[in-house]
Amino acid sequence: MNPVRLFRDPVGFFREMADSQGPLARIKFGPQVFYLLNDPGRIEEALVRKASSFEKFPRIDRTRGLFGEGLLTSEEPLHLRQRRLAQPAFHREKLAGYASEMVEATERLTGGWQEGMTVDAAHEMGVLALDIVSRTLFSTQTNEQAEQISASLNTVIETLNHLVMPWGKLLVGMPTPVRRRYRRALETLDAIIYGLIEERRRAPGVAEDLLGMLMNARDGETGEGMPNLQLRDELMTMFVAGHDTTANALAWTLHLLSLHPEQRELLEREVDWVLGKRPATGEDVGRLPFTSAVFRESLRMYPPVWILGRRALAPVELSGLRLERGAVLLVSMAVLHRRPELFADPERFDPLRPPPEHRFAYLPFGAGARLCIGERFAWMEGVLCLATMAQRWRLERDEGGAVEAQALLTLRPRNGLPLRLRRRS
Ligand code: HEM
Repeated sequence: MNPVRLFRDPVGFFREMADSQGPLARIKFGPQVFYLLNDPGRIEEALVRKASSFEKFPRIDRTRGLFGEGLLTSEEPLHLRQRRLAQPAFHREKLAGYASEMVEATERLTGGWQEGMTVDAAHEMGVLALDIVSRTLFSTQTNEQAEQISASLNTVIETLNHLVMPWGKLLVGMPTPVRRRYRRALETLDAIIYGLIEERRRAPGVAEDLLGMLMNARDGETGEGMPNLQLRDELMTMFVAGHDTTANALAWTLHLLSLHPEQRELLEREVDWVLGKRPATGEDVGRLPFTSAVFRESLRMYPPVWILGRRALAPVELSGLRLERGAVLLVSMAVLHRRPELFADPERFDPLRPPPEHRFAYLPFGAGARLCIGERFAWMEGVLCLATMAQRWRLERDEGGAVEAQALLTLRPRNGLPLRLRRRS
């Protein structure tokens, strides 16, 4: 295989592997063998039924500086304990309370937009998603810090892209300028997060948000609270996982709508009919089926989390595929969601396409015990933000160059997403 190709265009590389090898592609990189699963049955086995035979790949050592032992990267039994503590922040009743923050944040953002202006919609959605996650989960208003957080997160995410790749091992510990920038960005983020924790310790009990829940949680046996380091890891994880993913999901949806004015018009009609000019509420999410369908189809075509990895902890078999201990499985949603045997005419943006026959053919939020904890949060955010934007604005294609996807830690538009703002009457 050609490592340069894998580095430049990993999604293209994996798609070719799936085209040439089918439901089970075997890829050798140095001494390591990777199996790219493109078959929903085996994916279900790996992520759900035999999940305990696997650990996450890559292991956290390379991303330890960022996520530490937060929910995304920890393993059992710590993962399950932390997941239980964080779960209430994502319960249905809690989510309903976040709806107004989501709508108000969108109104604040679009309040600064001007007719005819071209904006980088990817950047705008980044600012929006960060504002939402900060206010809903940490009750903080990071207005002044938002740009600083956003810039630092971008540096961190770009570096992480290299760290999690097979050659990432070489980068660890190397005093390269990239690595130095990464360190500095991480220090900035750490300072902000420890600041949030300290602030809350000084004034406890102010908010019933995720931060409050984690800080009030007590160990069943020792009665002790969560140490600062664990709190920091969970907050950093939520900041990164809850911001970059939804930001890209929204950006790709705006991109697709700009390419398909007929679908955009249907969405606008639904929004006008259901909401008129009044602000959306949490209950409106269920009343906007076409807007939801647009978001769902966008997550199919451009899944922000485009690949998952698992490593076998012991020999295990997946429908006739025998895996040795240490074998690595890859599930690439960016590949799977466009397989012609799973989705008819997969390159077509069709919000009304029927669901795939096999539930595990569509996995934007993963599956099993490691299913995204923010899935419902993200659905609500996607639908409410899209509807609120569409009430007043139409984002049209700018005559710039073609928009290209770049597969970093998340799938994002490589050079931003220029869109022209048109005010709706
Ligand atoms: C469109 C938006 C989103 C997408 C596409 C997405 C996707 C995913 C995926 C695929 C996983 C599983 C990773 C794996 O199995 O290796 C995951 C896990 C996770 N996501 Fe999301 N996510 C989104 C939004 C969010 C939001 C809004 C939050 C928090 C506010 C969040 C927090 C997390 C956390 C903490 C995990 C780790 C869960 C665990 O292992 O227990 N995500 N996400």
